[in-house]
Amino acid sequence: QPKAFIFDLDGVITDTAEFHYLAWKQIGAELGIEVDRELNERLKGVSRMESLERILAAASRPLSLSEGEKERWAAQKNAVYGQLIETIRPSDVLPGIEGLLKDIREANLLLALGSASRNAKFVLERLGLLSAFDYIVDAGQIRFGKPHPETFVNAAEHFGVPCEACIGVEDSEAGIEAINGAGMFSVGIGSPDSLRQAKYLVSDTSRLTLDGIMEAYRKNAV
Ligand code: BG6
Ligand code: MG
Repeated sequence: QPKAFIFDLDGVITDTAEFHYLAWKQIGAELGIEVDRELNERLKGVSRMESLERILAAASRPLSLSEGEKERWAAQKNAVYGQLIETIRPSDVLPGIEGLLKDIREANLLLALGSASRNAKFVLERLGLLSAFDYIVDAGQIRFGKPHPETFVNAAEHFGVPCEACIGVEDSEAGIEAINGAGMFSVGIGSPDSLRQAKYLVSDTSRLTLDGIMEAYRKNAV
């Protein structure tokens, strides 16, 4: 029987994945590197600095930046992103999520947030969901970001439940890899192009139901 859910934030609870994309696109343009949606799929879920590294690696002619310059570009991206998330309101919670969180609560399952974002608490606060989770994996506590399983394993250890009894919900390829790597049941939101490793995949959050997830979990377990 599942005991806990661990949710990603950006692109799962609210559409901040789009804001990260817009911010990186702008930074990329300033660096002369095109950040398209295909490249963006490989940025989802990974840390700010790793995202910048992946953008730099996609440049048609190699750009070599000093550590200090990289820090400045990363800070600039965060400034652009910071402006975009200022406007977030409770109505920006993605369709189906509030109902699902409520159903999870009523089923007496534990609920954690596992985000790589240092802006996670601010975003949750703007959404009015800061107290909706039993535990939040703080990006600052994690040594290895997604696709490493540490984010998810950290939550399971905090709850004292085995990984096999946890369900992770993610919109990123790196995140699904992290959930599977932790030995948890992975729920993907998005397209099979990038999320083919998800154990259960839906195209968008409005299609998520606790019953649907539980049924898929049980089928996977047998
Ligand atoms: C993840 C996002 O949740 O957080 C990534 O999917 C982002 O796109 C990462 O790079 C780090 O976020 P932040 O807010 O600390 O730059
Ligand atoms: Mg995400």
